[in-house]
Amino acid sequence: MPPQTSGLPFDFVFGAATAAYQIEGAVSADGRGPSIWDVFSHTPGKTLNGDTGDRATDHYHRWAKDLDLIASLGLDAYRFSIAWPRIQPDGRGSTRALGLGFYERLVDGLLERGIEPVATLYHWDLPQALQEEGGWLNRETAWRFADYAGEVAAALGDRVRMWTTLNEPWCSAFLGYGSGEMAPGVRDGGAALLAAHHLNLAHGLGAQAVRARAADAEVSVTLNLHHVRDAPGETGDAAQRVDAVGNRIFTGPMLHGTYPEDLRRDTAALTDWSFVRDGDLAEIAQPLDSLGVNYYHSELVRRRLPGAPDKMAAFPGCSDLEFLPYAPPLTDMGWNIDPDGFEQLLVTLHHEAPGLPLVVTENGAAFPDTLADGRVRDDDRISYLSSHIAAVSRAVQRGADVRGYFAWSLLDNFEWALGYSKRFGLIHVDYETFERTIKDSGHWYRDLVRDFKAAR
Ligand code: NOJ
Repeated sequence: MPPQTSGLPFDFVFGAATAAYQIEGAVSADGRGPSIWDVFSHTPGKTLNGDTGDRATDHYHRWAKDLDLIASLGLDAYRFSIAWPRIQPDGRGSTRALGLGFYERLVDGLLERGIEPVATLYHWDLPQALQEEGGWLNRETAWRFADYAGEVAAALGDRVRMWTTLNEPWCSAFLGYGSGEMAPGVRDGGAALLAAHHLNLAHGLGAQAVRARAADAEVSVTLNLHHVRDAPGETGDAAQRVDAVGNRIFTGPMLHGTYPEDLRRDTAALTDWSFVRDGDLAEIAQPLDSLGVNYYHSELVRRRLPGAPDKMAAFPGCSDLEFLPYAPPLTDMGWNIDPDGFEQLLVTLHHEAPGLPLVVTENGAAFPDTLADGRVRDDDRISYLSSHIAAVSRAVQRGADVRGYFAWSLLDNFEWALGYSKRFGLIHVDYETFERTIKDSGHWYRDLVRDFKAAR
């Protein structure tokens, strides 16, 4: 048994993850409508080098070979997302058979290869037609999402057991509407809070819609919970305030059926929260079969030093705070590497929601890889993955009920506003030829999974 996995249960699931807009390309194929990310990425100045997902990794045409690669890595499961605008090009009404057909083939192809499909219903590609009606600022979008989720569950629910409603709704709300660095690019703290509530509602209504159409569905949501601590010497409530608007704004209503009092207080200058209507919290607090956790790095926070710029647009109510610069070593995203923070986050979550199984739905790192002589020697990524899998194992030994781990990402892909400049894949993609090359980290991960399985 590889030492990093020694604490993991025998039925622990190892997989890899992707998202539709980041890999599929083929943005006009088979009746797909535009999403907010098509519009955003085609707006000058919004993405690095003007990169778009128009072709991405061309997975829409190469999916079968990509599934062969997953099989060759020996993975138990594959987490992918479904592009809403392929199913309902305008975000409402009848579904597109051709768009659904792509995911039916994908799911069938996974099952034929003995790989468990894990489907995310929303990984940020809102149909642009809904954006024109306000997007996540419009309450109605939550019902549109539930309608779409129900249609997909009806079509795939006989073959897909594991469903995730939303991926990282914090990013949709606070990077999409708070800092504006992601689609749709709005910069307004109050709007971000409103969007967060509607995303919470979409999650709750979507979970119910999936269960109504797929009786055996296991329903989850994936959150990017911030592991934030007070900087050394900080004596106030800085970390707690970031935790409120970074984490508990979702875990509060989803897991406990309430918005935390301190969150309401900290954001009182931006909203009176009257958008939370009677009955909303009961819709949101649906029982979950598991909670998906995405983890990349940690944060230290303190009171903002005099004269320092306000960089907290994505954390409404926290403009008097600032994050410390990350301590090296750093990944190519400029993020720190803190596996102990990961362990702590999983253990804390376990205590906050005892009895709720956890799944690491994303973890990984970008590094400036180079392909030379048909090989990518990414020892830095191997070391990142290895130390973080060991952290999961330690968290399990401390009682956290973690059921699986998905590496981000299967393939190099479109890293949102940073375009193709950041490579997270276990598999290298040549963006000219679309050729795939398994990196050293991919081979390493294959061996780890193989040895783990052999020992159980
Ligand atoms: C989380 C997001 O879900 C994913 O889309 C993104 O590529 C990774 N973080 C890396 O930034």
